[in-house]
Amino acid sequence: MSKHHRLPATVSALAADGPHTDAAEGTLAGDVMRGLSALPKQLSSKYFYDAQGSRLFERIMRLPAYYPTRVEARLLRRHARALLAALTPTGAPMELLELGSGDGRKTLALCREWLKAGASLCYRPMDISAQALERLGQRAARQLPALSVHPLCGDYFQTWPLPQARRHQVALFLGSNLGNFTDAEANRFLRRVRAHLRPGDSLMLGLDLRKDPSTVLAAYDDPEGVTAAFNLNLLRRLNRELGMDFDLAAFRHYASYCPLQGVARSFLVSLRAQSVHSRVLGQSFGFEPGEVIYTEQSQKYERAGVEAMASQCGFALHAWFEDPELPYALVVCRAKA
Ligand code: AVJ
Repeated sequence: MSKHHRLPATVSALAADGPHTDAAEGTLAGDVMRGLSALPKQLSSKYFYDAQGSRLFERIMRLPAYYPTRVEARLLRRHARALLAALTPTGAPMELLELGSGDGRKTLALCREWLKAGASLCYRPMDISAQALERLGQRAARQLPALSVHPLCGDYFQTWPLPQARRHQVALFLGSNLGNFTDAEANRFLRRVRAHLRPGDSLMLGLDLRKDPSTVLAAYDDPEGVTAAFNLNLLRRLNRELGMDFDLAAFRHYASYCPLQGVARSFLVSLRAQSVHSRVLGQSFGFEPGEVIYTEQSQKYERAGVEAMASQCGFALHAWFEDPELPYALVVCRAKA
């Protein structure tokens, strides 16, 4: 146990804290206060993506060891027409809502194929990054001027557009981003998506599947050290945004994969006993040598589990496209009545 001022991991402990403490859930300050006061310590992977973190993630997606991006792009290319048929069986016009589009590169290629196939299509990329949406808009105008693109910036569920008459909504959640949620969070997320759709609307997920544990582990522990830099960048962000004094050389990236649970996990390991202070939180956090901060989980799925999860959340699994070499799936789900 730490000898430093560790608070009990309760929200009420936050209220009495310094004037700058923002205990609200979903804010960086509140989440970091809670996460670093908890045992084991944890920080949400959603905070990886500041400007530098987003650049590092783009480098990860180009790493030989990071297979999910390539395999997913291959599946989208290979099955573009079959996906269109599975998503809109009646050929009705579609409104494609992409949750977390980023710069939308993969999806624009898909839209190009769908337009060629004669689909009536409106693309609505949703992202919290205005910058990513800006770049996406420019890319779309340049590469696919025939496509109608209407970006939505902000929280998915706050910006979710009302359905247009006669148009099917198709929600797209790619990149195995669902895997960063715990099972309970994934369930809640999928139920919220379902609540915004009408019966017969669709959801397509890109999900990484269980495979050789060494292959998974290598994806989160690349020899180039890009994933390590991505993980450590979280501490740099806290130094900047919460006035913290993390010594980045005193922490090391550690990745694991548990084949029983199908979960890859990332940690930051404290290499020595140390105390880290936040000016903004008015709080210090003690670390034992070898103590970890749990920063990310990436769930690897299996078909039976996906089917059960979809069903619990108001969807029926409608189609499943899987890569024959590296297990990864594009899953088409239909909103149940
Ligand atoms: C695309 C956000 C799901 O968990 O595989 C990549 C993020 N983390 N390498 C994943 C990530 C470390 C990625 N997601």
